[in-house]
Parts: sequence; structure tokens; C-alpha cells
Amino acid sequence: MVARTWLLLQAAVVVAALGVRESNAMERGDAERGRTLFALAGGCGCHTAKDGPVGAGGGEVPTPFGKFYGTNITPDVETGIGTWSDEEIIAAIRDGVARGKGVESPAMPYYWYSGMTDADVRDLVAYLRTLPAVRKENRPHEGELPFARLAYRLWRTLFAPRFDRVRERPTEPIARGRYWVDHVSLCADCHTPRNFVGAIRFDFYLAGSLQGPGGDKVPNITPHETGIASWDEDDLVQLLRTGFTPEFDNVQGWMAEVVEGKGGGPGYRDAPEEELRAIARYLRTVKPIAHKIESERE
Ligand code: HEC
Repeated sequence: MVARTWLLLQAAVVVAALGVRESNAMERGDAERGRTLFALAGGCGCHTAKDGPVGAGGGEVPTPFGKFYGTNITPDVETGIGTWSDEEIIAAIRDGVARGKGVESPAMPYYWYSGMTDADVRDLVAYLRTLPAVRKENRPHEGELPFARLAYRLWRTLFAPRFDRVRERPTEPIARGRYWVDHVSLCADCHTPRNFVGAIRFDFYLAGSLQGPGGDKVPNITPHETGIASWDEDDLVQLLRTGFTPEFDNVQGWMAEVVEGKGGGPGYRDAPEEELRAIARYLRTVKPIAHKIESERE
């Protein structure tokens, strides 16, 4: 009798252990799928300097509130995020809280990423862990406000938009396109203007900005005649694949970087065509907004 109880107990322990192992495996992300997310995120380009290495930090992000440098997100244990847990990395991406530092500056678009699904953010983290570890100290921000962390916390409370997190990535193409545009590829971040405190002008959603990142002009990409009403779905997909507009002009600056990826890493052009098509399809459905931004391309 005792022996049988003992056996049963052992069996129960084995089953429980298997169950735990199973649920851990489910929570760990898939690096291969994560690479696709990294591509759709334009290669998280702010975290890569012009000549690479990918993710080792040093990308310049000039803002009206000082010049920021993207941080090292390679698995280096001293200068990167090698010792961070998955949960800590996810908090930095979606909640804007960096381990040991507190609330991140609005230059990190955590508020847009906050809508990313658990599965997608885990896959992205799994991919980050496969990047070659690079030992490279983070460059301090220039012209940072006094009491910066306090200011960032306040900014987050007052001005950061809040998005509902969806449980699963939408499968219907237009909803899926919107998910990429708002929460992963961040077309909406660069192509929507901000007001003087850096809050997003949702009344000009995707309608371009005279003062985009680095003070550059960003075109209106709504289907209005002052935007890209004359572009069809294929034109948009072609731009995201090649960087060429329908007039065979090639985009430059920030847009070229997110299309090509930075430092040899993947960018939009490396994402599956059906996802780029979903983005294009969604963009055809957004509200057309009159907002003329003269092109800066020569
Ligand atoms: C990091 C900032 C940034 C992100 C992210 C970004 N763009 Fe752009 N985009 C720009 C800038 C700047 C230009 C202007 C480039 C030029 O004129 O050479 C541009 C140009 C364009 C153009 C050309 C419009 C025209 O009239 O010439 C289209 C279309 C476009 N972007 C769509 C998108 C889409 C779709 C996404 C998301 C998948 C996206 N962009 C993400 C900054 C960005």
C-alpha cells in the first residue's frame, strides 16, 4: 500500500514537472519569428549606429528635448542586456521602464509598442538574444533635462497614449496592417506630428510632420491628394520592398534606414510580402487628411 502511494506520488511529481517544462517552453519566444518582427520593426534602427554593429547602440535620435543615443541591446553582459530577464526586456519595450534606470524618455516609443501581443514581444526578445554580443558602452544623452527621470515619468502620465493590448495578432488583413503600422513598424510614430510638449497629434494621424525626427520633414501618407491618394497597394509594397516611389525616386534618411535596416541588419524589405501588403491595404483605409508637406527629396 505504502509502495503504491509512493509510486503514485512519484508519478504525480513527474507529471507536474513535465507540465512546468511545457509551460516554460510556451513562454519562451521563437527567434526565427522574432527576426521577422525585428524586420517589420525597421530593424529597431535607433539602437544601431550608421555602420553597425546591429543593436550595439549609438544610433542618433535628435529631439527638441536633447540628443539621444539608442542603447546597446545586444546580449553583452556588461554594456548590453545580457543579464536582463525576458520580463525586464519586455518591460523596457512595452512599459517604458528600463532596468535600474526607471521610466524611459519619450524618444523610446514604448507607448506605441505597448500594443504588441505577448507572443510577438517574446519572439522579438528571443531574436535579440541571438544578436552577436558587442561590448560597447552606452553614450550619454546630450542636453538632458535636470531631473530627467522625473520629467519622463510625468510625461508618461500626462501625454503618453494608451493602447489596448490585443491578445492575438489580428488575422484579417486590414486589422493586421493597422497592428503593424501602430505597434511594430511605427509608421504612425514618424508620420504623425507632435505638439510642443511632444504629445502625439492624433487629429493628424499619419498626415506628416514638418518637424519629424531630427527636425526632418515627414510626408503625409494618408489617402488624401496632399498625401499619397494616387498610390495603389502595389506602389506602397514596392516602396517598402525597395525604397523606390512610383516616380522611381528613392526615399532617403530615416525612411531609407527603416526599409533597408541598419548596420547590415534586417529592415522592412526583409519582411514577408503579405505583411507589407497588409500595411499597404490598411493605409488605403485611413482617414484622408489635408496637410501639405513639400518633399525634401532632390
Ligand atoms: C523613422 C521614421 C519613419 C518611419 C518609422 C517610417 N517612415 Fe516613412 N518616411 C519617413 C521620412 C523622413 C520620409 C521622407 C523620405 C524622403 O522624402 O526621402 C518617409 C517617406 C515615406 C513615404 C513616401 C511618401 C512620399 O510622398 O514620397 C511613404 C509612402 C512612407 N514613408 C510610408 C511609410 C510606412 C508605410 C511606414 C511603416 C511601415 C513608414 N513610412 C515608416 C520616416 C519614417
